[in-house]
Amino acid sequence: MAKAIKSIAVLTSGGDSPGMNAAIRAVVRTAVFYEKTVYGVRRGYDGLIEGDLEELNAKSVKNILNLGGTLLKSARSEEFRTEEGQQKAYDQLQKHGIDALVVIGGNGTFTGAHRFYERFDVPVIGIPGTIDNDLFGTDYTIGFDTATNTVVDCIDKIRDTASSHNRLFFVEVMGRDAGFIAMSTAVATGALDVILPEENKSYEDLFAEIERGASRRKTSNIVVVAEGNKLGDSFEIAQTVRERFPEIDTKVTILGHLQRGGAPSCFDRVMASKLGVAAVEGLLNGKEDVMAGIVDDELTYTFLQQAVKNKAQLDPELLRISKILAI
Ligand code: F6P
Repeated sequence: MAKAIKSIAVLTSGGDSPGMNAAIRAVVRTAVFYEKTVYGVRRGYDGLIEGDLEELNAKSVKNILNLGGTLLKSARSEEFRTEEGQQKAYDQLQKHGIDALVVIGGNGTFTGAHRFYERFDVPVIGIPGTIDNDLFGTDYTIGFDTATNTVVDCIDKIRDTASSHNRLFFVEVMGRDAGFIAMSTAVATGALDVILPEENKSYEDLFAEIERGASRRKTSNIVVVAEGNKLGDSFEIAQTVRERFPEIDTKVTILGHLQRGGAPSCFDRVMASKLGVAAVEGLLNGKEDVMAGIVDDELTYTFLQQAVKNKAQLDPELLRISKILAI
């Protein structure tokens, strides 16, 4: 039977992503709609441990739907990894009479939430908020669409200068140990090649692609490099390529944290809104220890542990078509 829930707390944790604010707004307004008390916790689990929280209402979240970042701020909490830290967080929930927790974040956030649930039996539900798109149990995570559009915009601009100077650019994108951002943006920008953590690409493979580009007299070449790939960082890769092809003018651009900022896309706002509602309604219907996600346009709830452990898989079709289209 579903536990009686009168009061819910929401927090954002880990790397921020565009659309987190839209998710916070949806959680708060859905809780208010169902006449529940709702608290916003600042600075993720660190704020929970310290009791840095306040009661929110429908108006507290006005005009945030369109904003990047997170109104509640975020953190990667070391203390919450410890038993003492979790105990302090639980004590804060007890002190404020909070019955359930909505956590918006990625892998680390859900790993912590699952441990907390196992230990204290507090209903917890996750909303996938990360630009990396690396969670099992949802086709997209909140922020991925905005981040990839940002990357595409940047690479299009790099392409302008690359063709003016006949240069080869290595553009490094985020994703930690997952190549979703790299794979999609490589296809969307017509990159010559993409270097992914999920593949065992060798330098010989890369050299062959570069030779192919040169033999077709391409005026500009872009290689998208995912961080976490097995060849090395983009500077190392560019240096190795320079040694092999001294005649090619190579440059490196690391897009870095600009990929995490900016106003969320329509897609991310809609998804965040759907998942925020689904998280609160899920809790009220007895769902716990799960992540709300969308698979094939259907709302799904996946156990937090599975969302983290059952690695999301890159679409092999994207990899295949990127090779065909880069000729
Ligand atoms: O998980 C989101 C992410 O942006 C990754 O793509 C990246 O590896 C990491 O966070 C960077 O984290 P930080 O902002 O703590 O340097």
